[in-house]
Amino acid sequence: MKLSEDHNIDREILLEAERLFYTYEGESTPALNGLSLTIKRGKKIACMGANGSGKSTFFLCCNGIYTPSSGSLYLSGRPVGRTKKDLLMLRRKVGIVFQDPDRQLFAASVRQEISFGPLNLGFSEEETRRRVDAVMEELGITAYAHKPVHALSGGQKKLVSIADILVMEPELIILDEPAAALDPFYTEMVHQITRRITERGITVMMATHDVNYAYEWADEIILFDEGRILRQGHPAGLFSDHALLKKTHLTPPMLLTVFHQLQSRNLIREKSPAPRNMEELKSRLTSPPDTQEQNGFPASPPDTQEQNSCLAQQEELSI
Ligand SMILES: Nc1ncnc2c1ncn2[C@@H]1O[C@H](COP(=O)(O)OP(=O)(O)OP(=O)(O)O)[C@@H](O)[C@H]1O
Ligand SMILES: [Mg+2]
Repeated sequence: MKLSEDHNIDREILLEAERLFYTYEGESTPALNGLSLTIKRGKKIACMGANGSGKSTFFLCCNGIYTPSSGSLYLSGRPVGRTKKDLLMLRRKVGIVFQDPDRQLFAASVRQEISFGPLNLGFSEEETRRRVDAVMEELGITAYAHKPVHALSGGQKKLVSIADILVMEPELIILDEPAAALDPFYTEMVHQITRRITERGITVMMATHDVNYAYEWADEIILFDEGRILRQGHPAGLFSDHALLKKTHLTPPMLLTVFHQLQSRNLIREKSPAPRNMEELKSRLTSPPDTQEQNGFPASPPDTQEQNSCLAQQEELSI
């Protein structure tokens, strides 16, 4: 046992994976190939990496749907075993919203679907009804309560998938590409729901290919590569490592690129840390350079063209 002595438990760490291996039946290449990582309590974690790098497989191991062939998983410092009791505990504390809602939803009506988890965990009918009503109200899906799940749109199914998990009040919520295939309206809704979940102190681990969203949202980025973790770190540092991004087919976030451009042109206050959003970027801009004419010089010094293009960039971004 690793951290199982009570006095040794690091209360900051919610989930720890240690050298996980998993190979799908009939495959020769492992989907998880010695994957190790640590998730701190209350953090917003973005899992990124190429298609097929093992994100979904790892998530499915995290709530016991798949069992790694070797390696260990610790939840709040305690090793997760393979007994029924351990699996039930894992499903209660770790909820996963599947990449594809059609793989997650199976009950006849929306109310039945969302009630299934709490009933299965042993909550009374009355407690289940109270929880289901509250979560439907919160996500704005009460109107669909009696609709068959198959008659919902993709965006509505995604909200029901999230309700399925929220209703169980887990400690860790895993969102596997929650905005994939959603229109801008539903994407924003999912982002707002995610924000509310994290404000309640629930730890969220999300797979996403959206570098701009991940950069702004996450406390930490975990980069998956061929079933292992290539890097885990703060977004600004990680996204500034171009060799690393190239290896994982990622492009730098637009905000960071603009920041570095402005910095190289001395249009950013000295020693400013990288901004996380547009507001922070605006607050770090220096005042516009004095026009040279005021000092008795012509208005077109050699680098004016460069400055103009930079200012045009700022205007385009309505900075
Ligand atoms: N049901 C399955 N049967 C066989 N192989 C699978 C299965 N699901 C995934 N794999 C393989 O396991 C590896 C990891 O896949 P996984 O779905 O975990 O990657 P991912 O990082 O989630 O990718 P994506 O970004 O496309 O969602 C891939 O090589 C994939 O082909
Ligand atoms: Mg996936």
